[in-house]
Amino acid sequence: MTEDAPKKLFIKTYGCQMNVYDSERMAEALGAKGYVTTEVAEEADMVLLNTCHIREKAAEKVYSDLGRLRPLKQAKPDLKIGVAGCVAQAEGEEILRRMPLVDLVVGPQSYHRLPEMVEAKGKVIDTDFPEEDKFDHLPERKALRGPTAFLTVQEGCDKFCAFCVVPYTRGAEVSRPVPRLLAEARDLVSRGVREITLLGQNVNGYHGEGEGGAWGLGRLIREMAGIEGLERLRYTTSHPNDMDDDLIAAHGEVPQLMPYLHLPVQSGSDRILKAMNRKHTAEEYLRLIERIRAARPDILLSSDFIVAFPGETDRDFEDTMDLIREVRFGAAFSFKYSARPGTPAAEKPELPAELADARLHALQALITEQQHAAQKAMVGRQVGVLYEKAGRLPGQMVGKSDHLHAVHVQDPTAKVGELVQVRIVEAGPNSLRGERLQP
Ligand code: SAH
Ligand code: SF4
Ligand code: F3S
Repeated sequence: MTEDAPKKLFIKTYGCQMNVYDSERMAEALGAKGYVTTEVAEEADMVLLNTCHIREKAAEKVYSDLGRLRPLKQAKPDLKIGVAGCVAQAEGEEILRRMPLVDLVVGPQSYHRLPEMVEAKGKVIDTDFPEEDKFDHLPERKALRGPTAFLTVQEGCDKFCAFCVVPYTRGAEVSRPVPRLLAEARDLVSRGVREITLLGQNVNGYHGEGEGGAWGLGRLIREMAGIEGLERLRYTTSHPNDMDDDLIAAHGEVPQLMPYLHLPVQSGSDRILKAMNRKHTAEEYLRLIERIRAARPDILLSSDFIVAFPGETDRDFEDTMDLIREVRFGAAFSFKYSARPGTPAAEKPELPAELADARLHALQALITEQQHAAQKAMVGRQVGVLYEKAGRLPGQMVGKSDHLHAVHVQDPTAKVGELVQVRIVEAGPNSLRGERLQP
């Protein structure tokens, strides 16, 4: 290898969309140090695992993946292995102890220090929560993947739900200032992006500095909707207690804001919601959904659920099923409770695994039923579809509808990035089929 041959970087991303965004930014930061990304771990000079600590399985996966890198490291002693993300933050030096092949551990708030860290000799670790905003110190975004992009507007969480590691791994809620976000959004649009998803662990708790003081998410969305060429806006993930009037109204008033909202409720039992420290009741959630639907009647709702939280009785679980029946979700993620070290809920006795399995199974069956019903209800309707890639069949395009359904359309002359009007003609189990309406 000559001195200036580019070094190859392999990144594996676990967990949430915020990690996807962070991985892109880390790739760019290392790009400035001469790294180009590769999809093949075997040819990499550096392997970076951007990890997730949310459930035990997610965290343990990282260790088994590190174990599998051992032969690679033996064959290529210069190979650098880095662990980033929420496991890095939560476990820090423990990772170096358990996995001596790791060279570098970097927490989510220190990614701007990564370029120096890779040049350091020996093992390095940085899990600080520095004052400065990492995104201000990372290079501009270059690589884009198609017409959609994520934009992190807020990070961290002050909610401290009793089961959750995020407040510990990502730190306190911090909102990025409005002008930086508008500049980043304009730059994305100038390079072909037509849909932006605003990201944050508590995105609707956004309160970034803008003209005249702190702006809420509704105001930020209204301002972004004014960017010429930006056709679609979404945001995720929200907490029910931060859905303010202005944001709800924006769903009825801003055409670019798409009719889909992920609003995790976790449980439909007031007793369990209280034990989870969610700070709202099932009834309050239902009333909130009513207000959102009044603003945007065709909005599709999705949620996260945890089953078998410590102390959850059959009655509590039935309350959750009742809430699901009442809301009628278009989609949902559901998980068995996983005890996380350091969280208050981890102190409490866990429920038997078989019970958790049975509840998860029942809940998922109900959600699947509702998901299919929502898909079927789209048949005959006209929706926008933003083409993201070519389909598997010749002449086929695949994109997302306004309601975030995957839609296949036979459209041989179309290009990726086109936003077209489509009539939905068929609902399959995982995607819809549409026919393009001629403009
Ligand atoms: N507000 C966050 C939620 C992050 S975690 C966001 O921005 O996405 C995503 C989901 O994981 C949560 O909504 C919850 O349903 C689930 N989850 C979190 N901690 C969990 C745990 N200890 N066990 C099982 N599921 C958990
Ligand atoms: Fe975790 Fe709750 Fe914060 Fe979501 S709101 S990140 S579930 S502590
Ligand atoms: Fe996982 Fe951290 Fe995201 S724990 S879900 S990667 S914020």
